[in-house]
Amino acid sequence: MTAESECSDASGAVSPALRNYLRWKIYSINGYLKSLDARLIVALAGWQTSNKIVGGLAEIGVHHGKLFFLLALSRQIGEKSLAIDLFEDDEMNASTRFGGRSRAFSTHVASLNVALTSTEVLKADSLTLISDDILSRVGRVRIFSVDGGHLYHHVAHDLPLAFSTLAPGGIVIVDDFCNSEWPEVTSATYDFVRAQEGKVVPAILTRNKLYLAPPDIASAYGEFASRFAAREKQMSRAPVEVMGALVVYFLSAISLSFNFHFKPNFKKICSLPAHARKISAPSMPRVERFRFIMSSGALTRSRNTPTLITSATPKA
Ligand SMILES: C[S@@+](CC[C@H](N)C(=O)[O-])C[C@H]1O[C@@H](n2cnc3c(N)ncnc32)[C@H](O)[C@@H]1O
Repeated sequence: MTAESECSDASGAVSPALRNYLRWKIYSINGYLKSLDARLIVALAGWQTSNKIVGGLAEIGVHHGKLFFLLALSRQIGEKSLAIDLFEDDEMNASTRFGGRSRAFSTHVASLNVALTSTEVLKADSLTLISDDILSRVGRVRIFSVDGGHLYHHVAHDLPLAFSTLAPGGIVIVDDFCNSEWPEVTSATYDFVRAQEGKVVPAILTRNKLYLAPPDIASAYGEFASRFAAREKQMSRAPVEVMGALVVYFLSAISLSFNFHFKPNFKKICSLPAHARKISAPSMPRVERFRFIMSSGALTRSRNTPTLITSATPKA
C-alpha cells in the first residue's frame, strides 16, 4: 500500500491532477521541497479529509509554488488555498527560466490548470499581516506551511500568525527547522513552542521540516506518520526527542531540487552504460555534489547510499 492509497478512500481521495503533479509535474518546478515532504503532505491532507478535518490550505513563502500546488490541489469542495509571498525577485530568481518568482508562479498556475481565485494569492510581506487578513480569505486553515523569511523575527511573527488561524485538527509545517544554514528558524521555533506552554507540540520531524500541532491531535498525526513510514520502504525512521516530545523522524535523501535539467538529461543519462551512470554521492565533496545535481544530474538511491546519476562533467 502506498501513501496515496491511504487517502484514496471515498472522502480523502487523491485527485488525478494531484497524482499527476506529485508523480511528474513537480519536477519541472523550481523550489526547495523534498520528495518525502511532498508525499507526506499529500498523505496528511488526505488523512485530514477522511477524518473530517476541514479548512483552508495556506503557505507563507511560495517561491514558484512547488509546495503550494500540493496544497491547492488538495482542496476539497468549499475549501480554499492561500499563497502568500513577496513575489519579488532577488538576483538568483530573476535569472531563472521563467524570469522571476511572480512570473514563474503564474506560468505554473496556468500550465497546471490550477483554478485559483484572486483572493487565493496574496502578494505581501507576511510581517504586515494579521490573522484577519488570512481568515477573511480562506477561513480557518487545516495545513499551514511556514516557509517565508528565515530570520528570527520572520519566524517569530509567522508561526504565531499561522497558529492563530489554525482550524481544529490542523497542522503547521515549519521549513528548515534544524537546518544549520538557517539557525534562527530553529531558535525562533523553540522559543515559540516554549512560550506556548504545551498548547503547541512537535508531531513529526523530517530532515527539512518540523510539523507542529496542538497536543489533542499531535499524537494522531504521529501515529499516522508511523503508518506512512512503515509503508515507505526506502525510508529510515526512528523516534527523535524534540522539545521534550518523542516524534516520528523521517530521513530521506531524495531531493526534488534537481529539476532544472531533469527531463532533457534523463534520456541521455539512461543511454549511458551503467558504470558511467553511478557515482557514489558520499565520495564527492558537497559543492561538487551540488553542482552535479544542479547542472545535469538526477538523484536516485541504492538501498542505503544516496547515488548520483549523471551524464556529464559538472559545470564550472
Ligand atoms: C525558501 S522560498 C519558499 C520555497 C517554497 N515553499 C517551495 O516550495 O519551493 C522562501 C520564499 O519566501 C518569500 N519571503 C521571504 N520573506 C518574506 C516575507 N517577509 N513575506 C512573504 N514572503 C517572504 C520569498 O519571496 C521566497 O519566495
